[in-house]
Amino acid sequence: MSVSPTEIDGLSSFSSGAVTDLAGPEVAVAWYIAARSSDLEEGSVLGVRINEFKIAIYRIEGKVYATSDVCTHSYALLSEGYLDGDCIECPLHQALFHVPSGDVRSPPACESISTYRTKESAGDISVELPS
Ligand code: FES
Repeated sequence: MSVSPTEIDGLSSFSSGAVTDLAGPEVAVAWYIAARSSDLEEGSVLGVRINEFKIAIYRIEGKVYATSDVCTHSYALLSEGYLDGDCIECPLHQALFHVPSGDVRSPPACESISTYRTKESAGDISVELPS
């Protein structure tokens, strides 16, 4: 598969083809550079916007994760919340989400947040998103 870099909103994207979800139709995805590795310290969360997606990226025990940045309870940015181990606490009503899985760990939210694949190379953090 060929990889063709494209400049979008100042960020580079790399087409990685289409993924077939067993439950639905093919979804085209692409990798987007979301941040510099040096921007994300251990135990921190950073909010980024890539096209229409509001994404929170985290570094937890050296590993990088990405989730939706928007709480599923009401509207609040999780990147403005409190990272406690591998869970992020919403700053508005304190719902707790498990970052690696997106699962709700504490109400009032009852819907999981979306999670996205990440990779880190050559000093960049990239996130895989629908294209
Ligand atoms: S907006 Fe996040 S818990 Fe209410």
